[in-house]
Amino acid sequence: MSENLIEVKNLCKRFPIKGGLLGREVGAVNAVNNISFSIKKGETLGLVGESGCGKTTLGRSILRLIEPTSGQVKFNGEDILTYNKNQMRAMRRKMQIIFQDPYASLNPRMTVGSILEEPLIIHNLFKTKEERQKRLYKLLEYVQLPKDALNKYPHEFSGGQRQRVCIARALAVEPEFIVCDEPVSALDVSVQAQVVNLLMDLQKELGLTYLFIAHDLKVVEYISNRVAVMYLGNMIEVAESHELYGGARHPYTKALFSAIPNPNPNISKERIILEGDIPSPMNPPAGCHFHPRCWMAKDECRMSYPPVESMSQTHEYRCYNPIS
Ligand SMILES: Nc1ncnc2c1ncn2[C@@H]1O[C@H](COP(=O)(O)OP(=O)(O)OP(=O)(O)O)[C@@H](O)[C@H]1O
Ligand SMILES: [Mg+2]
Repeated sequence: MSENLIEVKNLCKRFPIKGGLLGREVGAVNAVNNISFSIKKGETLGLVGESGCGKTTLGRSILRLIEPTSGQVKFNGEDILTYNKNQMRAMRRKMQIIFQDPYASLNPRMTVGSILEEPLIIHNLFKTKEERQKRLYKLLEYVQLPKDALNKYPHEFSGGQRQRVCIARALAVEPEFIVCDEPVSALDVSVQAQVVNLLMDLQKELGLTYLFIAHDLKVVEYISNRVAVMYLGNMIEVAESHELYGGARHPYTKALFSAIPNPNPNISKERIILEGDIPSPMNPPAGCHFHPRCWMAKDECRMSYPPVESMSQTHEYRCYNPIS
């Protein structure tokens, strides 16, 4: 685990907000604001933060499912934002996404067999019918579904099984990198662990690299090698999971992680309740966007956005008055 598969530099995505009869631009949301990070081959980077902070926008911008406003996204050293349509089509094979809602992301009129076969045909892989059939059985084996699943329709499966179908579809084209956008949030708690474990087993077996977006910090901590925290479009801290759990430097990270119950009753942990709502992303506060809710804020924090500071090779944060 040393080479970077994904390198993101100064990535920005700005959504103009149009209003009025003439549809003029009345404002904008900087959903992804100057974000830089990398993900090593075979690594899982967790991505957390409150609703609306830009996690999905970041994940989709990296895959160019939405077009970033500026910045660089390098995949295996090549900046894919400079790729034309044809180059991008070939690239799509290597990067896949799994969505939160396995109900909405499968066509109810297609059998699982045709859902899984479609990407093989689009990308011209496994060219004969027999080769494709073999591949479909292999995909079912990966996600532990029985062979007869191929002739069934999505509604005949439970939520967990449907998410397995989505995972199989993502795997069909032999990707190297998968953005998992809250893949277990819509599932029953009892099946969440099964799907998370499946994703981890597949990662080992196939050498996959994940960007794993989630609300549930426990899940993120479990699956991720490192975790990145976002607040209003900015990445405010990134570190190995254990470093964040015990040694967060940004007050927002500390507050977020203080909400996880500690299984060890002998370690008392202070629970930090954040006051105030997330400010409007259209009109974020000056300086560090977190300062109105921050109990550590000083004058500097109201003036300008803190630069990236390195705590160690794996731990970076953006805060003028970090927790020591
Ligand atoms: N197509 C769009 N047009 C305008 N604004 C958008 C669009 N998509 C997202 N946004 C805005 O960008 C910001 C980030 O949204 P995003 O969906 O990336 O957040 P998120 O962190 O994934 O939230 P959640 O946890 O609820 O999924 C939000 O303020 C959202 O309203
Ligand atoms: Mg989202």
